[in-house]
Amino acid sequence: MSSNKEIKLAPLQLAVPRHVAIIMDGNGRWATARGMDRSEGHREGARAVRRVVTRARERGVEVLTLYAFSAQNWSRPESEVERLMDLLVEFCEGERDLLMDKSIRFQAIGQRKRLPAYTRAAVEGLETITAGNDAMRLVVALSYGGREEIVDATRTLAAAVACGDLAVDDIDTHTFAAALTTCDLPDPDLLIRTGGDLRVSNFLLWQIAYTEFVSVATQWPDYDGDHLDRALSTFARRQRRYGGVVDMVGSGPRLAS
Ligand code: FPP
Repeated sequence: MSSNKEIKLAPLQLAVPRHVAIIMDGNGRWATARGMDRSEGHREGARAVRRVVTRARERGVEVLTLYAFSAQNWSRPESEVERLMDLLVEFCEGERDLLMDKSIRFQAIGQRKRLPAYTRAAVEGLETITAGNDAMRLVVALSYGGREEIVDATRTLAAAVACGDLAVDDIDTHTFAAALTTCDLPDPDLLIRTGGDLRVSNFLLWQIAYTEFVSVATQWPDYDGDHLDRALSTFARRQRRYGGVVDMVGSGPRLAS
């Protein structure tokens, strides 16, 4: 006979990363394995973006940064680049209600001037419409390269020195970080790469100095909220030392129930 006693479980205390960054890899292989055009993989990948944004918001992640198009991806076949640019527009138009409903602010980083005018207009339109949302930030890296970003920041600082606004001795990690496009974001706590490879591919090179890395074999179009939950659990078990000896209270993730 079963007991009527209700077993009360304590709320799960997980250290939720403030900032999760994702290298969404494997779209092409996912499509090729199914006899489809690579662009079909990107289309399915866009669906995975919706699932993961939704779950990240539910879990209390503050910033989700997705690597959607690298500065090096322009070298892909023109038809694939065009499809990706179209998909971004579809995403900006199709997910606007989701972002407004969930109070998610959308922001793009990267060389936006290189984007075709219609993609840039859609991206900037969504940035404007969602500017007042404050439950989560969805940052999409477009025509983004970590090295390119570091070079741009160096130019900004050099120009400030040249015109006398900044002393060379005042350049430190803080002034440098402030010159990056991510200046108003915390560094990523967790970097996830799908598709099984173990490399960072020119993504957020400065910002990931102390980021915990999780690589999964799952191709991005198959990635969903449960995969994200597993990555969050893995993260919660990691001990972060930042070059020191103990987890540094205040600069790491916070506890959430
Ligand atoms: C890498 O897979 C993925 C990309 C270059 C594009 C990612 C784009 C999306 C997920 C869809 C659009 C994005 C948004 C935010 C709506 P790959 O093509 O390099 O795959 P492979 O390594 O298997 O060839």
